[in-house]
Parts: sequence; structure tokens; C-alpha cells
Amino acid sequence: MGCFKSYVICAFALLVPILADQPKIVCNYETKAHLREGQGKFEVSDLDPALDICTHLQYGYAAINDNTLKLVPLNEQYDVIKDNYRKITDLKSRHPKLKTLLSVGGNEDTTGEGNEKNLKYRELLESSTKRIAFANSAYTLVKSFGFDGIDLAWEFPENKPKKVHSTIGKLWKSFKKTFTGDSILDEKAAEHKDQFVALVRELKNAFKADNFQVSLTVLPNVNSSLFYDPRNLAPNLDFVTIQCFDYYTPQRTPEIADYPAPLYELIDRRPDENCDAQVKFWMQNGFPGSKILLGIPTYGRTWHLTSDAKVDSVPPEGLDGPGEAGPFTKESGILSYPEICMKVGNPHAAKSKPPSPTDFKIIPDATKKRGVYAYRLPTDNQQGIWIGYESPETASIKAEYVKAKGLGGVALDDLTLDDFKGVCGYNRYAILQSVRTTLQ
Ligand SMILES: *[C@@H]1O[C@H](CO)[C@@H](O)[C@H](O)[C@H]1NC(C)=O
Repeated sequence: MGCFKSYVICAFALLVPILADQPKIVCNYETKAHLREGQGKFEVSDLDPALDICTHLQYGYAAINDNTLKLVPLNEQYDVIKDNYRKITDLKSRHPKLKTLLSVGGNEDTTGEGNEKNLKYRELLESSTKRIAFANSAYTLVKSFGFDGIDLAWEFPENKPKKVHSTIGKLWKSFKKTFTGDSILDEKAAEHKDQFVALVRELKNAFKADNFQVSLTVLPNVNSSLFYDPRNLAPNLDFVTIQCFDYYTPQRTPEIADYPAPLYELIDRRPDENCDAQVKFWMQNGFPGSKILLGIPTYGRTWHLTSDAKVDSVPPEGLDGPGEAGPFTKESGILSYPEICMKVGNPHAAKSKPPSPTDFKIIPDATKKRGVYAYRLPTDNQQGIWIGYESPETASIKAEYVKAKGLGGVALDDLTLDDFKGVCGYNRYAILQSVRTTLQ
């Protein structure tokens, strides 16, 4: 059929592929950031400049009720009584193309410990009656607050961290593993994998009349090959976000620091602990690349350096747990991007008043495969700290990767830890802006 038949059809036929190729920029929004102090306090009004860029805003969080296993607000007081759910979905009147999704779980809805940790996320899957009740409760929640769908940041068990042992330790570990099977994360992983496919299908069905979206976020250290079936999930998922970061954190591995969000494989690391391996896994198992989003963190992980630390190679030696807390996030072992740039300085600042040089040494990523880090050795009056982080430059390298591989876009985790005030010498939301510029 020729284009001359009808201008309308012709324009449409040309436009559809262009629209379909628009990269997605999914922005996570951690609402508890309103509790932070000083320049870290994040208000709803801070979202506005980001929402000109984000195609989707994911509200953190909704939770599974411990008794009924239905979907409920995580923080009833803030989300519902103080009306924050509604305030967020109302933003669509100013940003008509924005989709708002309710994010489920995200490691914020935790119960129990050890093998019992977050058991409800598996219990729910095991009964079709409970799954249907969950799907119906999700429909009601999404519909009544005006969201466009949900994102399942499902809390499957996390991989055990890799340990570095002396030779004797290594022998002991393989002995223990053989005899106690302590590496098995979930005896029923294969069943849970199939049941999760069913849940996604049931959700999509429950959402059909309103065309609500269902997406999945693979949380850090959740092993896709154990719990997810890409080929059978594909028909009912709008997209999947792969959070390929936090393989090493000061809590998981107090004595091993590493690049927190490597794009490619690192020396002496498990081969699947990087973005490229994860993306390949999903694509090789039948999931369309155009529906895969690369997760990009906006924060860094920090370790405390002892007085006999050796930092001239990676991983550094002489670490003992989380680095000192930052002034806004006030949590040891983690720093937001603005906390990092104010500490270590910013050699790339384009605008006036860049943060002044400091006693930190920054090691940029010449390989474009690993990420950036900075450190300060301990002195008599200052603690030593090692910071592995994502910068606007490394985030842009990841956006290049997304383009080169024909992926669907990126998902930022999260807006409240990006430089939303613009203190780093760039415009507000430095990492988000950098990703957008590269994807365009
Ligand atoms: C994920 O599971 C596969 C087996 O299904 C295993 O080979 C791989 O090592 C696991 N990855 C991690 C990081 O534990």
C-alpha cells in the first residue's frame, strides 16, 4: 500500500516506529527522602524539573500485607492520610505524558530473617487463590489513586556474598558447602519461577480493562537464572529493569570494596556480577532487548580505610566496614551523588563555583567498563574512606551501551539521591540530565 493513499495513514505509519523507539527513562522516587535533613530533604516540588525528562515515575513503595497478602500502601500515614499518592498522580496534569507506577517491595517491605526473610513474597506465589486476590487488590489500589500500573520490585532471596578466604578458609568452606548445602537459597526456586510467571499473567489480566502497566525490577543480587523465566514473562511485562549494582556493599562484604555498578566483568569476580552479563542472560533467554532497561544508581558505596590500607590497586586492602555517614543521608556506607561531589570535588563542573579541590584522589574510568572511585587516606585528624560511585560521566557510558545494544532505556535509582538541587556545578539532576543527553 502506497503512502499516497491517505496522508493520515501515511503520517501514522511513519510516526509509529519513531514513537515506539523513544527510550524510556524510568525514575524511581523513594518517598522516605522527605525525612532527610538540610539540602537532602526531598519535597514533592523538587520533582518538577525531573518530570520534564522522566517518562515514568515509580513511587516507592507499596507493600504486601503480612496477614492478607494483599497489596497495601507501605506507609499508610504518608501515602494515604497525608495524601502523597494522590499528590504524585496529580502531577500528570502538568506532565501529561508521564506514567506513574506504584512500586512493590523494593527491599523496603522486609519481614523476618535468615531463610524466613521476606517469606511472604514466596508464600503469595504458592496459591492461585492468593495470587488472584493480590492481583485484584493491586487493581483497586492503582485505580483508586490514579496510577498507571505497578512495578514489581519482587523480594526474592538474595545471593550470598562472595567471601575472600585464606587457603584454609577456602577448604573449610567447600567442605561445609558439600555437607550442609548452605548455598541453597530457595529449595522451591523452580516452582516459584513458574508461579511468578502466573502472577504476572494474572495481574495483566486484572489490569486489562484499564490497560494498566506491569513491569518488573530485578533487585540487586536476585539471581535471574534462579527466579525469572524471561521468555514466558515477556508477553505480559511492559518492561524489565535490571538493577546491576550493589554486588559488593560495606554491609555484605565489609572487607572487600569494589566498583558498585560495573558495566562489564571485573577480574576475580563472579562472571554474572555486571550489567552486560545480566542483559545477555535476559536477551539470550527470549526477552526482547527493546523492553530491557538498565538500572543506574545515583549513589556511591563507601568503606572505611584503616591506617595500613593499600589503595594502589582494586580491590584495595585494609578496609573494615562502612565509611562515615554523609550530612544528608546520615547512613554509614552510602553517599548520595551531591554528597560525593561536595566531598571529592568535581573536575568536570561546567558552571561557575565548582566545589573546591580536596584531599581526595579521583580515579576515573579509562576503560569505560567499571566505574569511578575516589579515596582519602586516613590522617591524624581525618578518617580514611574509599568511595565507589556513579557519576554523570559513567552514567552516560551506560546510556551509550543502551543505545548500542538497542535496549529500551534506563531506570534511575533514584531521583532523591541525584543532585536535585544542583550543587555539583551542573544543572539540577546531573545524572538524569547526562543520561537524557546521551540517549537523545
Ligand atoms: C546464579 O545461579 C546460577 C545457577 O542457576 C549460578 O551458576 C550462578 O553462580 C549464580 N550467581 C550468583 C552471583 O550467585
